[in-house]
Amino acid sequence: MLGSVFFSPLQAKRLVESMQLAGGSTTIFSRSFAAFELPAEGLTDQELKRHMDTDPLFDRSHIPLNDHKNAGLGPLHNAKSCSACHVLNGRGRAVLGESLFRISLNKDKGDKPVPGMGFQLQDRATFGYEPEASVVREWIEKEKLRKLQTTITTSDGKVLPSDDVARSLRIPPPLIGLGLLEAIPEKDILMNEDINDENNDGISGKAVHTKDENGIDRLGRFGWKATSATLHQQTVDAYNEDMGITTPAGPDTNKTKDGMPADISWEELDGVTYYSQTLAAPATAQKADTQLVRAGFKVFNELKCASCHIAKQQTGFNSDAVAGVINNQTIWPYTDLLVHDMGPELDDGVAEHGLSETFEWRTTPLWGLGLTKRVNHYVGFLHDGRARTIDEAILWHGGEAEESKNQYVSLNSAKKSQLLKWLKQL
Ligand code: HEC
Ligand code: HEC
Repeated sequence: MLGSVFFSPLQAKRLVESMQLAGGSTTIFSRSFAAFELPAEGLTDQELKRHMDTDPLFDRSHIPLNDHKNAGLGPLHNAKSCSACHVLNGRGRAVLGESLFRISLNKDKGDKPVPGMGFQLQDRATFGYEPEASVVREWIEKEKLRKLQTTITTSDGKVLPSDDVARSLRIPPPLIGLGLLEAIPEKDILMNEDINDENNDGISGKAVHTKDENGIDRLGRFGWKATSATLHQQTVDAYNEDMGITTPAGPDTNKTKDGMPADISWEELDGVTYYSQTLAAPATAQKADTQLVRAGFKVFNELKCASCHIAKQQTGFNSDAVAGVINNQTIWPYTDLLVHDMGPELDDGVAEHGLSETFEWRTTPLWGLGLTKRVNHYVGFLHDGRARTIDEAILWHGGEAEESKNQYVSLNSAKKSQLLKWLKQL
């Protein structure tokens, strides 16, 4: 669709200029290693102060406390702080300590928790406790691509059979422009849904129906399978599951939903959420290099990459927005926030809480893609970091994206290079 929008040179120039501003007027112009750590442009002084004040909460290293049973960190956990995994807010590496395993029983569509462990494997424990299990990971080469194989051994020495227990390594996605993604109206997301593929393009896309922390029906948009509806919910889950830290149920109480004293205050919970909501998205690298952008983006559209990686979105208007500047922005995240059948090679056997199928994944936003190596000195794309290059990431696409992938494979080298160059300047 957008591929045909390049009418006149002037219009093309304007479009390219808009595309450079990935986060609309909230875009920041850093392409340095710290590009993912910057507050959105256009925050008021007060909002900026709050962002700066809440930043250290994201880095806070938690410890076990003596306040009550199991207070503070753990006992079971994966890491001690948000930033231990989300290093410089970039993509985490596929090593434990920066990433984690989702697990489930393979029988019954992968929506059953593993007894005694749930849907997430906690491989660390505080002093005096046993971690749930230890994991040995191994990359296996497969036709020039690499795939992960893991051995999970429980604390009592039992090796979990891989036929029964599905395991899915998840690396942390880069945390950029999240407040903008949160502000895309639900109706706009639903507009791109095409569950029965009625337009016959081989691409369906499904919204994930879940609930927010208040039990209200919402669309899921965060996480590799879009299981979290809001950044607040994602933060609550991160404290609970990743760090074994309980959170208050609401602003007026310092108790958890079960009536237990919460490990952190509402102020801290809300503060960390605010920090993530007000992080910027970086501008693309090419300062209106119309030629390169036009050529690469054209291939991206021709290959129907843009049917899932929807280039342009518009944020809504919310009078309670965490920051006014997040409202009414034209943004270029390259995602539809829907989940898609990505084929057997990406089927991880885990359908957390039955919200999405084992073979479904949320279209990953592509903004900031080209900064991956600069921020984290390492490249590992896709949910488990298996792809060492953008080329490999595309080659793993299957299912609804099979046709796209095949077309990519048969591109001539000039066009392939145009597409990859364009992706690298995002
Ligand atoms: C043990 C490592 C780890 C820790 C600790 C951790 N995260 Fe994450 N985070 C992840 C992983 C892995 C994902 C992707 C999870 C998935 O979808 O399966 C993620 C996803 C997210 C997302 C969703 C991003 C998106 O694009 O959808 C947000 C927001 C987030 N984390 C914030 C936090 C905050 C805030 C904290 C601290 C309270 C935190 N995380 C602690 C590993 C971690
Ligand atoms: C059917 C929808 C769909 C189509 C079509 C599609 N993608 Fe994707 N793409 C996804 C999903 C879903 C993921 C996440 C898969 C995962 O992590 O397991 C993804 C991941 C990626 C990633 C890795 C991003 C990251 O940060 O890990 C890149 C790069 C990418 N796609 C580029 C492309 C390109 C280029 C095309 C066209 C040739 C394309 N995609 C076509 C849905 C699609």
